[in-house]
Amino acid sequence: MSSASLSLDGNNFELPVITGSEGEVGVDIGKLRAQSGAITVDPGFTSTGACESAITFIDGEKGILRYRGYPIEQLAEESDFVEVAWLLLYGELPTAEQLKVFRAKLTYHSMIHEDMKKFFEGFPNNAHPMAILSAMVCSLSTYYPESEYEETHDDNIVRLIAKVRTLATYAYKKSIGQPMIYPQNGLPYCANFLHMMFAVPTEEYTPNPVLVKALNALLILHADHEQNCSTSTVRMVGSSRANIFASISAGISALWGPLHGGANQAVLEMLQMIQDDGGDYKKWVQKAKDKDDGFRLMGFGHRVYKNFDPRATILRKMSDEVLAELGVNDPLLEIAKNLEQVALEDEYFVSRKLYPNVDFYSGILYRAMGIPTNMFTVMFSIGRLPGWLAHWKELRDSDSRIYRPRQIYTGAQARDYTPVGAR
Ligand code: SDX
Repeated sequence: MSSASLSLDGNNFELPVITGSEGEVGVDIGKLRAQSGAITVDPGFTSTGACESAITFIDGEKGILRYRGYPIEQLAEESDFVEVAWLLLYGELPTAEQLKVFRAKLTYHSMIHEDMKKFFEGFPNNAHPMAILSAMVCSLSTYYPESEYEETHDDNIVRLIAKVRTLATYAYKKSIGQPMIYPQNGLPYCANFLHMMFAVPTEEYTPNPVLVKALNALLILHADHEQNCSTSTVRMVGSSRANIFASISAGISALWGPLHGGANQAVLEMLQMIQDDGGDYKKWVQKAKDKDDGFRLMGFGHRVYKNFDPRATILRKMSDEVLAELGVNDPLLEIAKNLEQVALEDEYFVSRKLYPNVDFYSGILYRAMGIPTNMFTVMFSIGRLPGWLAHWKELRDSDSRIYRPRQIYTGAQARDYTPVGAR
């Protein structure tokens, strides 16, 4: 193992260097404060690694994304979401028997306790489904208190992946005043979700195979993305040994932010606003460049990808194919493509390496599937859940120390209290 030298106030400190399996180099500063009294400071963690992980590899310059070594392009094209969930969780593609048993467990555990349905009645009809999902996922811990003492957490991993669809669709059905639809054991994972989302008691509903295929690919593309904001949140909460449900609930809340998973909802609202404003997308590109304007081109830019987000490339192609197969002509897709074209030729975006990210096209597909805009980030949560769980399991299996960053204090220096009468 090589080392790095740090010179501080005339003193030299040797710091060990870690090299990952793909050649990434990290300077281990774990003992820097003990040696030098100094810490490093990196707001936003642009150059700081929180851990070593074997789950997902991203090369932001080359637009590479691999889950456990498998390229995202191959998984999105040839695998399905349940198989990819197993891969992320357990590190290898499942055998036929493992996959059969996993699918059966996800089917068997898809119902929620009947008493949980009462929780939904307390939410206002216009409650954002991300608020409901975060609350309901944490509430699951009250039905499985023994989960604190589980060794492998496998049972609760199955419960969460199985039930997240039921909770999400119940939130949607409640918001439109329709009865909740129970999961159907004869339907595979994604078809079951579509059935709970769109079926009504008064008529038969058969999930469209085009939508089932598209949903599998969408969830695969969202399944993990190394130490993004929400996954880091799940690891942070998990490091205190909080239970798996509370940790995932925290991840859902972090994903909700418009700079993160909430961007897919913000992209559709932006495209709709541009259309309502007459469709002059060039005007909005100019506004996005104006620092004083405060408008951002949602779905553009990424902390890691500095050329292209491979997921956006796949989703752009999928949008064309799926909308054509469904016979949907969505003017917002044309606005999105025009925005992309103008931005990719504009020095402001090119110089800052701002390209469409995963959120730029995903909403077009969700909309074509009939999923309402305020459910888009819920869809992101369903996709990201196996990734969150894989990282939580990796952290707990490694017996990780609690996450407790340091800081540089910049407030008032020591001073004495004075009674209010003397101020
Ligand atoms: C996701 O981390 C992940 O992996 C996340 C994710 C995942 O799978 O988990 O990939 C999912 O969250 C994708 C990102 C979705 N968010 C958006 O689309 C929101 C719009 N994008 C941005 O807000 C921004 O690009 C971020 C949040 C994605 C990245 O923020 P950074 O890395 O902190 O970059 P920055 O805000 O410092 O921007 C750098 C420069 C700034 O200009 P200068 O100060 O250098 O002049 O680029 C500008 C920014 O003003 N900029 C944009 C812009 N994004 C960055 N200007 C206009 N429109 C934008 N969208």
